[in-house]
Amino acid sequence: GFTRSFSSSNSLNAVKTVTVIGGGLMGSGIAQVSAQAGQNVTLVDLNAETLQKALKSIENNLKRVAKKVHKDDVAKIDSFVKDSIARIKTSIKVEDGVNSDLIIEAIVEQLDVKQQLFNKLDELAPQYTILTSNTSSIPINAIGSGIKRKDRLGGLHFFNPVPVMRLIEVIKTDDMSEETHQTLMEWGKSVGKTCITCKDRPGFVVNRLLGPYSAEALRMYERGDATMEDIDIGMKLGAGYPMGPFELCDYTGLDTNKHVMRVLYEMTKEEVFRPVPLLDKMVAEGKLGVNINCLSGDASAKDIDVAM
Ligand code: NAI
Repeated sequence: GFTRSFSSSNSLNAVKTVTVIGGGLMGSGIAQVSAQAGQNVTLVDLNAETLQKALKSIENNLKRVAKKVHKDDVAKIDSFVKDSIARIKTSIKVEDGVNSDLIIEAIVEQLDVKQQLFNKLDELAPQYTILTSNTSSIPINAIGSGIKRKDRLGGLHFFNPVPVMRLIEVIKTDDMSEETHQTLMEWGKSVGKTCITCKDRPGFVVNRLLGPYSAEALRMYERGDATMEDIDIGMKLGAGYPMGPFELCDYTGLDTNKHVMRVLYEMTKEEVFRPVPLLDKMVAEGKLGVNINCLSGDASAKDIDVAM
């Protein structure tokens, strides 16, 4: 373990130390944007190798950000990268990350594993620590069902790739205090994101609307009403969307889209989320799209630039 000084969150906007649990695709991005914004970060993962990979990918991303901001000033680029990286500590033990103002969980999408983690965090973390999850599909209330600090439980739902996408959905559970809500909104802003608030409902705002939209586009294509190309052009030029539904699906991953849709269908039983055979078939054939993956360093310089 390691010790560090931190200010306890007695007043608003006091989050200075963040622990991110799960150093995969999302967790490494969340750690990056936090460190880049001056937060002291502890990144925890069960797997030491994952943590090394995460640090490497964060460093690469930071270099691109720094070049964009500081142009040819090598000294400034260097210190930006070094200072940001220096704010990130890593550990394979959750115990090393409990003394933070804010904990963001981004581990495997499995209810029982998340519940176990939250119970442990509730037991070990100081009373002021806010516990949040980045889950896309599991109700926050279910994840935190065993914890006592219900007023300090919530969701911080980031979008992939985290350094690029500007939104955080702040999930406000019924028991969340106004103070916790305010603190999360301010924290999101401080790491350069725009926050919106949503109740703890299936799909929150974005996936709840995107699911039926994507499914309808697929069904329209399946019926032979229009080509994929024409549907994409239609939504870009007719509705002002930056990408058409098929481009977006390609970009976010067909497997991810299928998964989100299935989970929303199971939770809501609404017809709009009924699985689309074409999507199932393509995923089964291994056609998963052109996934942007910051962790493997695949995000294009252009995408990183857009973020800044
Ligand atoms: P990932 O598989 O890339 O990373 C998960 C990491 O968690 C792995 O490195 C694993 O070793 C670690 N882990 C698993 N159990 C752990 C535990 N008990 N303690 C510590 N570390 C543990 O997954 P990804 O894509 O980053 O997703 C993480 C979470 O973020 C999930 O809840 C997912 O629903 C959510 N999410 C994912 C998005 C995406 O586009 N991939 C978008 C928004 C949210």
